[in-house]
Amino acid sequence: MNSRVSSMEDVKDSIQRSQPRVFKLVLLKFFLVFLVLGVGFSLFSMYMARHIGVRDIVLQAQSTFKPCFEEQGSLDRWIRPPSTLMHSMSDEELLWRASFVPLVKKYPFERIPKIAFMFLTRGPLPLSPLWEKFFKGHEGLYSIYIHALPSYEANFTSDSVFYKRQIPSKVSEWGEMSMCDAERRLLANALLDLSNEWFVLLSESCIPLYSFNVTYKYLSKSVHSFMSIIDDPGPYGRGRYNENMLPEVNISQWRKGSQWFEVSRKLAVSIVKDTVYYPKFKKFCRPHCYVDEHYFPTMLAIESPHLLANRSVTWVDWSRGGAHPATFGRFDISEAFLRRILEGHTCSYNNRNSTICFLFVRKIAPSALEPLLELAPKLLGFG
Ligand SMILES: *[C@@H]1O[C@H](CO)[C@@H](O)[C@H](O)[C@H]1NC(C)=O
Ligand SMILES: *[C@@H]1O[C@H](CO)[C@@H](O)[C@H](O)[C@H]1NC(C)=O
Ligand SMILES: *[C@@H]1O[C@H](CO)[C@@H](O)[C@H](O)[C@H]1NC(C)=O
Ligand SMILES: *[C@@H]1O[C@H](CO)[C@@H](O)[C@H](O)[C@H]1NC(C)=O
Ligand SMILES: *[C@@H]1O[C@H](CO)[C@@H](O)[C@H](O)[C@H]1NC(C)=O
Repeated sequence: MNSRVSSMEDVKDSIQRSQPRVFKLVLLKFFLVFLVLGVGFSLFSMYMARHIGVRDIVLQAQSTFKPCFEEQGSLDRWIRPPSTLMHSMSDEELLWRASFVPLVKKYPFERIPKIAFMFLTRGPLPLSPLWEKFFKGHEGLYSIYIHALPSYEANFTSDSVFYKRQIPSKVSEWGEMSMCDAERRLLANALLDLSNEWFVLLSESCIPLYSFNVTYKYLSKSVHSFMSIIDDPGPYGRGRYNENMLPEVNISQWRKGSQWFEVSRKLAVSIVKDTVYYPKFKKFCRPHCYVDEHYFPTMLAIESPHLLANRSVTWVDWSRGGAHPATFGRFDISEAFLRRILEGHTCSYNNRNSTICFLFVRKIAPSALEPLLELAPKLLGFG
């Protein structure tokens, strides 16, 4: 009985147990079917992909994003100058970016070196018509940069060489570090164009003294950069030195020079990357120490004395005395006046004597434009 009952119960049990067993079997079958379908589909899509799919997709992607791929992959993006001079970089970001220097010295492409003409101005360039004539026909051998007061809006027309050549600018005061900041900003913006090899700082009162060809040859063939560095023992020289600049600068290293310089690319990079002298000059060369007369001359005389001509190529007349050089207006400009600047000097050029000593003249008043335009073809060789 017991056994029957037990067997009955067994049967009952087995029936109860066999219901999930059947269910599991059905599930297993479903699973297998899906597995087979899944594996089959995978194999099918792998086959399709290998023969048409993936290749087509990749090709399609390449053709769709071709400009992007090309830009990323070609040398062009590294050597093309920025398409616009306006940018949103801070000074810190700009100086960092401008300090990039290739370590391989041979350029793997044809590089035609240019002169960067950097105009440090308050606003308008009243002598621009003379400069336009100077630059005419020499495209590709120069670049122009203008640092003006931020409030100034230039209105050059699109046919002008000065059109859209303004760089992001800040207020700068004579004799203050903000003036050197403006000059470093000009150098840094000009360094972004890999073709710029020589950098000339000019003001709105500067004029060129020779044709573009003579100017280009003079700067490009010079083994020195034109920065004046004078060791003046008097109150306006060593008298402005501050002992707090030790140990970076001692009294016998202290130099004074004209603000209007020409430097090679190598020296331009030295100036924008400087973090050694900058804080000392900012802190310890304040009026009546005029920092724009001392910072670059002293720094470069310490770092690269052998690369300096120790004279400026910008002529200026201090002979009248006083704190400011003479300004020349309409009635000062004559053939005799220009000949006196063109012919009255000898200087050292590439360690030889030369009679061409100055390429630019300041300070020229706006009123002098008309007689200059008249005399330029005969005396200056352009226009
Ligand atoms: C630009 O503005 C100045 C005044 O700021 C004006 O004398 C000059 O004629 C203007 N030039 C052009 C091309 O509009
Ligand atoms: C300036 O130099 C270039 C090339 O050296 C020459 O083709 C051109 O005629 C020169 N221009 C003038 C005005 O002498
Ligand atoms: C200034 O420094 C230079 C280079 O270190 C050194 O040759 C010169 O003797 C120093 N001059 C003075 C006055 O300390
Ligand atoms: C400029 O002066 C430095 C010394 O400060 C000297 O080493 C260099 O040779 C000078 N340059 C020229 C062209 O005489
Ligand atoms: C260069 O000029 C100086 C005077 O300025 C003179 O003493 C020297 O002999 C000249 N050198 C040559 C090579 O003509």
